Amino acid sequence: MKVAGGSASGPLAKGIAHELAAGYVDVIFEKHPGGFPDDERYVRLLGSVAGEHVVLVQTTHPDSMVVEFFLLADAIRDAGAARLTAVVPYYGYGRQDKRFLDGEAISAKTLAKHIAVDCNELITMTIHNPDILKTFPIPASEVSGMPAIGRYLKSAKVDFLLAPDSNAVRFVEEASAIANTPWDHLQKERIDSYTVRMTPKKLNVKGKSVAIVDDVISTGGTIATAAKELRSQGARSVIAACVHGVFVEDAEANLKTCDAVIATDTIQSRHTKVSVAPEFAAAIRALG
Ligand code: R5P
Repeated sequence: MKVAGGSASGPLAKGIAHELAAGYVDVIFEKHPGGFPDDERYVRLLGSVAGEHVVLVQTTHPDSMVVEFFLLADAIRDAGAARLTAVVPYYGYGRQDKRFLDGEAISAKTLAKHIAVDCNELITMTIHNPDILKTFPIPASEVSGMPAIGRYLKSAKVDFLLAPDSNAVRFVEEASAIANTPWDHLQKERIDSYTVRMTPKKLNVKGKSVAIVDDVISTGGTIATAAKELRSQGARSVIAACVHGVFVEDAEANLKTCDAVIATDTIQSRHTKVSVAPEFAAAIRALG
């Protein structure tokens, strides 16, 4: 088995290769220093993959990383790989999981259709709607990133976990079982992409160190609203913890409401504090 990583997921791909004791295929991403002047992606494999089971690790966000995924998958197949497993740590386009309005693309399915051209199977992590995986044209499965978050929060000695909405209850339950902490949840109403409202609720957080646990932080609006509620109820400190740190637009300003922000390496950022390489390695070993 060999592991290759796209430029969205290099450190995680190396971590997975290390966990599996597999060879790592280096890739060049620029033909010329600075890349193509028109910003188009370029890939060149530096190692042999002929006859190998190759694991390609690449998050499909932002858009240029989707193109890079396809270039790498095609290059790996052309170079004679026997089997190609797509590991998509953060499945960009996963939130458009149905046709909300007539004429829309079901983007999550569109992406899968194209991934299936070169890949035999797909493994992703904590996807917005796991049910969408059943509609993919190749075997597709989801691994949870919450054990990694739970490990981190345990070592950080957090007293209490909070799910900012009912969708995040399944995440906080899993993390709290590992961190060994009590937890609670809020009810969130989303007004628009930037604004959320929380139903007032008494929480047992006075004097406690609390982590808000969610799958994704995008604009940080959800976290900021929940953090203000925790502060107003006397929480001693507030940590924001997520699997996928997308961090768009005003996220950094919104996250100033927290004492710390932690994310995994499904999307590499300055807030990446914990690796999900062990979770993916276990899923790859289980493929058979
Ligand atoms: C929603 O269902 C997700 O679990 C997150 O709560 C949401 O994506 C966070 O978005 P934002 O950071 O923009 O509030």
